[in-house]
Amino acid sequence: MNTETPIEFVVSSSTTPTPRDQIEASIVNPAFGRVFTDHMATLRWSNTEGWHDAKVEARRPFQIDPSCAVLHYAQEIFEGMKAYRGENGSISLFRPFENAKRFRASAARMAMADLPEEVFVKAVEALVKVDRDWVPGGDGSLYLRPFMFASESFLGVRASNEYVFCVIACPVGPYFKAGKTAVTVWVSDQYTRAAPGGTGAAKCGGNYAASLIAQTEAAAQGCDQVVFLDAAEHRWIEEMGGMNLFFVMDDGSLLTPPLSGTILPGITRASIIELAKREGIVVNEAPYAFDAWRADAASGRVREVFACGTAAVVTAVGQVRHAAGEFSIGNGDEGEVTRRIRVQLTGIQRGKVADPLGWVHTIS
Ligand code: PLP
Ligand code: COI
Repeated sequence: MNTETPIEFVVSSSTTPTPRDQIEASIVNPAFGRVFTDHMATLRWSNTEGWHDAKVEARRPFQIDPSCAVLHYAQEIFEGMKAYRGENGSISLFRPFENAKRFRASAARMAMADLPEEVFVKAVEALVKVDRDWVPGGDGSLYLRPFMFASESFLGVRASNEYVFCVIACPVGPYFKAGKTAVTVWVSDQYTRAAPGGTGAAKCGGNYAASLIAQTEAAAQGCDQVVFLDAAEHRWIEEMGGMNLFFVMDDGSLLTPPLSGTILPGITRASIIELAKREGIVVNEAPYAFDAWRADAASGRVREVFACGTAAVVTAVGQVRHAAGEFSIGNGDEGEVTRRIRVQLTGIQRGKVADPLGWVHTIS
């Protein structure tokens, strides 16, 4: 087992790299998740060899057997993080060890191999260094997608004895349509994302598969995202398909649903809570019912609502649709508190404002 020797990623560069002018053209305002860099980092695990075969190589398709475990029982987890180019050209990550920690927690829940945090971060760094020309400047960033899947060819239902860990990257602009200052959300009263005792707190592909029918319904209702309610009572607000939610109340406090085990513990969520508390803002992590949200939006007790996550950053919610109607939040646009939080967080991530908690991890 390779637990003692430090793992080093052996780099073999692509023999057909994308020409520089083509990279420059493709990193200008790219659509989310459609353009990929030239390389990928990979690492394999087996119950006999442990972690081995660490490399960065030209991005290529995987060859897997039709009986590959992930295709049948969905034993798969992933992370989402970004590399940013600072104004001085430096490249940095934001709290990468938090992603590494969450990846370990997801792996534990899905009975998958445990990847040491420093190896996770080393893989991400190795890929970003090789593909550094792909990191956009300005408001863009390089979205990084570390993931792991069960790669054993075997149809029995048990934890796989083999896994592949991989990191791919794509230059991205805004997750929602450029120029949108607030999104419209659909509150699903029929479909839930996760139940107590389930996998809601793990970042596993299955959670997203379960959310897609509700996201499709949301799109059919003209909405950008779906808001899920709890599975037991269909009453308590949980999170969106790919981001956490915050409510800005009229007394200046923030309210966000608690980490009950059914929602993803977002790193953006945790960062906003820490920053707000440092500024003396009261943050309540407490259950909030959809009925209360509707009433509070009408009375003005809820002033602003925003979604947050790596892909979505901080995005205002302007309009809320549900089976029985529709309501607006404030004037339907990004509010002052949301804007301040967005500017502060993105400022730290991009090295434009002070980083009081040492969250920026500079790579080069
Ligand atoms: N909730 C879900 C379901 C997500 O997919 C994400 C995105 O990763 C988040 C919340 C926000 O998490 P983070 O801030 O770590 O990106
Ligand atoms: C992320 O923010 O990294 C996610 O995984 C969410 C998804 C909507 C792209």
